Amino acid sequence: MNRCVEPEWLDELPEADPRAIGSRRDLRRLNQWMGNASIMASALGSLPIDGKPWRMVEVGAGDGSFLSRVARRLGAGWQGTRATLLDRQNVIAEDAGLGFRKLGWEVEVVTRDVLEWCEETGPRLGTVVIANLFLHHFGRNQLEALLRGIARRSSFFVAVEPRRSLFSLAFSRLVGLIACNAVTRHDAPVSVRAGFCGNELSRLWPGTEGWVIREHSAGPFSHLFVARAKV
Ligand SMILES: C[S@@+](CC[C@H](N)C(=O)[O-])C[C@H]1O[C@@H](n2cnc3c(N)ncnc32)[C@H](O)[C@@H]1O
Repeated sequence: MNRCVEPEWLDELPEADPRAIGSRRDLRRLNQWMGNASIMASALGSLPIDGKPWRMVEVGAGDGSFLSRVARRLGAGWQGTRATLLDRQNVIAEDAGLGFRKLGWEVEVVTRDVLEWCEETGPRLGTVVIANLFLHHFGRNQLEALLRGIARRSSFFVAVEPRRSLFSLAFSRLVGLIACNAVTRHDAPVSVRAGFCGNELSRLWPGTEGWVIREHSAGPFSHLFVARAKV
């Protein structure tokens, strides 16, 4: 199946549209079915936690509920993490901030386009960038620019994306059975066709010499990419 990027309805609906609110709720359920919080937490778990509050940026963070699930799984060793939830829509769930505070995380919300953020400067060492169900929104040229920006601004990057496979595509066409709304029923197969397989992300990652990279399928429907700077 060739990769094909098409517009997703959730990206085009106003933030407060009830269909968008319903679809963001569906996303939380889909993340659970896909096991993405656990895939992300175990990839992050390979980082040393001794004495280091990490800076973490989730790009395309949506309502923040994904990172709050990941934070719960990471446990006490990650207390003090300073997280930035970046999304071009301001849709942070009301209870997300409270969940982070209980875990001892500091959180700031940044509402802007990720490609603008990529152009800025910021500390690279000690910065972890994560993306969940996000990279697949971008066609090849934008994806290259995005990965270049992330590589410049972080020393550890983890992405969990839809796996582009016939199995994932078949499941994505059945999301109505778990009560997903019309927006999600449209966007799920679109996301799978725009997803990744093989070593597609590694091939787009800039300057592979300075990085340890792994990329493979993860869970029933997901594709994992991890890049760790050698320094
Ligand atoms: C499929 S949702 C995933 C949200 C979250 N990561 C999760 O797993 O629940 C993709 C998110 O990317 C955001 N997004 C899409 N294009 C963006 C861009 N160019 N810059 C910043 N955010 C973007 C959308 O607003 C949406 O919240």
